[in-house]
Amino acid sequence: MSSSKVNVAKGLEGVVVDTTSISNVHAEKSQLYYRGEEVSALAKDRTFDEVAFLLMKDRFPSPAELEEFHVLEQRYRVLPEGLLVVLKGLKAAHPMDALRTAVSYLGAEDLDRTFDNDPATNWDKFMRLYAQIPLCIAAHYRFSKGQEVRKSKLYLSRSEHFFDQCFGEVPNELTAKAFEASMILYAEHSFNASTFTARVISSTTSDLYSAVTGAIGALKGPLHGGANEQVMYVLEELMDSKDSVEVWLAQQLKDKRKIMGFGHRVYKKGDSRVPMMQYYLEELSSGPKGERLLGVHRELERLMRDQKGILPNLDYPAGPAYYLMGFDVPLFTPIFVMSRIVGWSAHIIEQLANNRIIRPLSEYIGR
Ligand code: COA
Repeated sequence: MSSSKVNVAKGLEGVVVDTTSISNVHAEKSQLYYRGEEVSALAKDRTFDEVAFLLMKDRFPSPAELEEFHVLEQRYRVLPEGLLVVLKGLKAAHPMDALRTAVSYLGAEDLDRTFDNDPATNWDKFMRLYAQIPLCIAAHYRFSKGQEVRKSKLYLSRSEHFFDQCFGEVPNELTAKAFEASMILYAEHSFNASTFTARVISSTTSDLYSAVTGAIGALKGPLHGGANEQVMYVLEELMDSKDSVEVWLAQQLKDKRKIMGFGHRVYKKGDSRVPMMQYYLEELSSGPKGERLLGVHRELERLMRDQKGILPNLDYPAGPAYYLMGFDVPLFTPIFVMSRIVGWSAHIIEQLANNRIIRPLSEYIGR
């Protein structure tokens, strides 16, 4: 086997593969912007529906447009009976696998529009997934607990409705605010692995459901969206352990293990989404369990900063925040999908608007 003669940008690090006007990480400020709007400000002042509209349409909705958006989302709050049967059959599966199958099912069922990539059709397909992804997650969750799905309630917001569909009750004010903020912070992040996957699939002029199905597969990985689940498993281990966080970390680093929820390809001065999510995590951490959790969380962050100079990413506060909101750990990455469906759909539409098939080269090093 011969070695490569060209300079390969492993992991495409530093390679600019296309232009986008959807979002941008400002390198010097280390800040994330959606369509020119700073994301923490959006999370403070706007609803997730308004941010979804902004990302998709490049402007905020008028009151009438927002009303229309709500009506369409509510109209789609029902799942096909056949899909409920499939989700029940998959009740033992990881929720990300069930969700990937569910989106694929929804695409296969949308018979007349398989090859229709008109922007108006893709807007409608997006609205369908925007409404139905939370229903798929909640239905699978209830089946996994031996329960039946709940009837949809149209008067609840999308986020409140998700809690009602999972747990049979709406969240308190703090939980609702923290969840809505997490939706906004997770919604879009330029050419990350799952979004790039969606763009590659779209570049073949395949359909939006196929692109989203592929993106869910990419997001599942622990180096990407799956990190929010792994963070919580680590924190649970640390809360139960007799060893100190310092001893645990020393062993992990000695074994050359990555610490989940830390590091980022793009942010080197810290992930600008972290402070707001950290704020909500701290607000949610009441009672002895919350305080114990927050204690190990802070300690691990301090040690990683002092010993490795590596800072947390959004998954680090988001995982434990979902835990304190009452979600089972395997639901964390599917909840990420509830949000990122917006960024993926915006990128799919942008890719198709100025498309060329994505087909890079490789350097052959075989015999
Ligand atoms: N824990 C320990 N060391 C880490 C680390 C982590 N979470 N993240 C990066 N590093 C170290 C690497 O070991 C490497 O050190 P070295 O140069 O001595 O070998 C250096 O920092 C660069 O890391 P690298 O893996 O090359 O960075 P990347 O840009 O390819 O990967 C991530 C970025 C996010 C995949 C990586 O930081 C990671 O695996 N983080 C944990 C998973 C995670 O939280 N993912 C969610 C991302 S939003």
